[in-house]
Amino acid sequence: MKIAIYPGSFDPVTLGHLDIIERASALFDKLIVVVMHNVAKSPMFTVEERMEFLRRTTSRLSNVEIDAFGGLLAGYAAQRGACTIVKGLRAMSDFEYEFQMALTNRKLNPNVDTIFLMTSAEYMYLSSSMVKDIALHGGKVADFVPPEIEEEIFHRMRKDG
Ligand code: PNS
Repeated sequence: MKIAIYPGSFDPVTLGHLDIIERASALFDKLIVVVMHNVAKSPMFTVEERMEFLRRTTSRLSNVEIDAFGGLLAGYAAQRGACTIVKGLRAMSDFEYEFQMALTNRKLNPNVDTIFLMTSAEYMYLSSSMVKDIALHGGKVADFVPPEIEEEIFHRMRKDG
């Protein structure tokens, strides 16, 4: 069974993430979308909220599992028997950091390869930080996040802001 993992902060999941999830789920027997908790970042949404948003938006994809993890990605891949890490690439500006992470992960776990899916053109500019900024300033995020979570994100950000 070919298992891939798609790691990220997903704070929150965007249409750009969902595009990568849909395309990657068609390439592997199983795709594990894993919310990585990173002590260096202060997320807007809790791990449980981020997982719930992902579950809601991917419920129709039967080979997609949602999980969370707080350690090294290379270790998680070994633990789950995954052969591939999937990453989305937007602009060239993503490349250098992603290249560094891919090489590091391969050094830590030689059994795992990273593959990159190019973003669909309409999501080239899109990021979770952009979504949070728009919502925080009262803008509508319907064009940027899956419809199942749009209202909740809008209201949560207004409440917190
Ligand atoms: O959505 P993000 O914030 O760009 O995702 C970055 C993430 C979580 C994939 C990356 O920071 C990561 O893999 N963190 C896990 C820690 C780790 O394994 N570090 C060493 C290899 S770079």
